Amino acid sequence: MDNCKAVALLDSGVGGLTVVKEINRQLPSEHVVYFGDTARMPYGPRPSEQVRHFAYQIMDFLLTQQIKMIIIACNSAASAGLEYYRKRVGLPLLDVIEPGVRAALKQTLNRKVGVIGTTGTIESGAYQRVFQRLAPDVHVFSRACPLFVLVVENELVHTPEVLGVAEEYLHSLKKAGVDTLILGCTHYPLLADVIAAVMGPNVTLISSAEETAREARRILEERELLHPPGDSVLHRFYVSGPAKNFRQMAVKLLENEIRAFQVVLDEETPLLL
Ligand code: DGL
Repeated sequence: MDNCKAVALLDSGVGGLTVVKEINRQLPSEHVVYFGDTARMPYGPRPSEQVRHFAYQIMDFLLTQQIKMIIIACNSAASAGLEYYRKRVGLPLLDVIEPGVRAALKQTLNRKVGVIGTTGTIESGAYQRVFQRLAPDVHVFSRACPLFVLVVENELVHTPEVLGVAEEYLHSLKKAGVDTLILGCTHYPLLADVIAAVMGPNVTLISSAEETAREARRILEERELLHPPGDSVLHRFYVSGPAKNFRQMAVKLLENEIRAFQVVLDEETPLLL
């Protein structure tokens, strides 16, 4: 039965777990398969062709796992352009960019929205394109914050230096007077306290996780693919680097015991689709 299959998610590391957490909250009966490409993170500074290739390799792997949907829980991968795969995969494939924009549009009053993300995401102009399509009157101010992913992956969020880094990155967005700020990298909700402290109480932070999970529910409902409640729920986590560190961070974040397995993916792993 297809509705008993899992929802698959991918990211370069722990960032996509912010989306898993929201899936667990909104769709608690769903099995989840997650892939974190920890051996090759960060994706943000890499050329888009390479990020695309990594994402294709991971999706090939995920397709061997009894899944019914793929969520690209990584803005950098989504910004690298996955059209080729989207056309061939034969399963719903959604990402976090459009849901984030939609959530921001519900919040902004002054129509000035900030977007922060990795260098790859910001330079791709992916957010601007979605705003242009959905709300061309909105002024979009963007800023790459390349160190934030490393801060999260290395568990440095609560160090004093991070506040200074955030002030430097966010200065121009504060000056622009944005009233809404999209956390355009799935790692950034894990830094939300610091970002909120810098931006102040009048700026609403948008994590796309909530809206993405809502969209996943909508698609599953529409295709009659929702998992029936009642059965025990199975979550599987795969990483390309050592499983131990990832597991420790995932347990903290998801507030649940998990098991993580290492899968070796490298440049030579051939593409299937
Ligand atoms: N969490 C990812 C994103 O949403 C990737 C960050 C990275 O690996 O640079 O962009």
